[in-house]
Amino acid sequence: MRIADHMIENAVGVYGLPLGIATNFLINGRDVLIPMVIEEPSVVAGASFAAKLARAGGGFKAVSTASEMIGQIQVLDVPNLHQARFELLAHAEELLALANRCDPVLVGLGGGARALEVRLIEQSPVGGMLVVHVIYDTRDAMGANAVNTMCEALAPRVEEITGGRVVLRILSNLADRRLVRVQCTVPAEALTFTADGHLYPGRQVVRRIVEASALAMVDPYRAATHNKGIMNGVDAVVIATGNDWRAVEAGAHAYAARTGYYTALSRWEETPTGDLVGTLEMPMAVGIVGGTARSHPTAQVALKILGVSSARELAEIIAAVGLAQNLAALRALATEGIQRGHMRLHARQQLLAKEEG
Ligand code: MEV
Repeated sequence: MRIADHMIENAVGVYGLPLGIATNFLINGRDVLIPMVIEEPSVVAGASFAAKLARAGGGFKAVSTASEMIGQIQVLDVPNLHQARFELLAHAEELLALANRCDPVLVGLGGGARALEVRLIEQSPVGGMLVVHVIYDTRDAMGANAVNTMCEALAPRVEEITGGRVVLRILSNLADRRLVRVQCTVPAEALTFTADGHLYPGRQVVRRIVEASALAMVDPYRAATHNKGIMNGVDAVVIATGNDWRAVEAGAHAYAARTGYYTALSRWEETPTGDLVGTLEMPMAVGIVGGTARSHPTAQVALKILGVSSARELAEIIAAVGLAQNLAALRALATEGIQRGHMRLHARQQLLAKEEG
């Protein structure tokens, strides 16, 4: 409670959620135990089951980009948008140097401003404007504070250079320069199973999962649910590690709609040998230092359990859990349906509610 009181205003209590550990994860050749904070039945079991399937094909391979966030500075009332854009880009080095004076610690750790981009928006409900993007490497921090501080520090100089008026100075949650990609292959035979006396041959399961995935690629109504299944896994680890799950959610869905059409974050395909391969690509703005990750004692324990040494490693693990969760849902949906397993656990929850009540 003392810690909660330091975290937010008017704290009156602490709201508990179950913390579980998902097993069987092999990620980039390393065995990892996954702490997950989630209230929904079947999620931890589903992730563990799918990780076992992926393990049969060598586990998850994950890669990530640098931890680059985008800080936005909105400039209005610019006398000449094209000229002002030219001037800002001509002053890029000066502005980046100014940005790098904001957080010497982060810069000392190899982070800091990387590039400056200027977007010209000819028309909006309030007329034309410029949007300055400062690309900023936040290393092992989620980085919202560093980016926001830097944007605020740059604003007066941006006004001088452009002759305009700055309004917004804030990071973008569409962290499309901080991406993580993960893949796993599941041998068809690992997907063979029997339920209620019905045999589901592996090859057939592969085909059905690919068909289910196809709908999510072309239909936003299905894509939203498909992505929700991914976020069941992603959010559970994001929360367990004290990270900002609203930021990760916002980034995920904005990324899913980046072409102007909302689609699936992952895709499942059949390999030439008839096995199943799944790929997920999404932004992952998470940190292992600063913020709640540091002040929350359980988040500290979760990070220890994961054994991660960088934010990128954490991001890769989280994406692997998202892909596993997606596989667990699709396998069930494409075969026996999710209700049998789900309702069994749900009944357990209902019983508990009755006992407690
Ligand atoms: C339920 O929390 C998540 C699912 O709806 C995901 C999906 O449909 O892929 C089962």
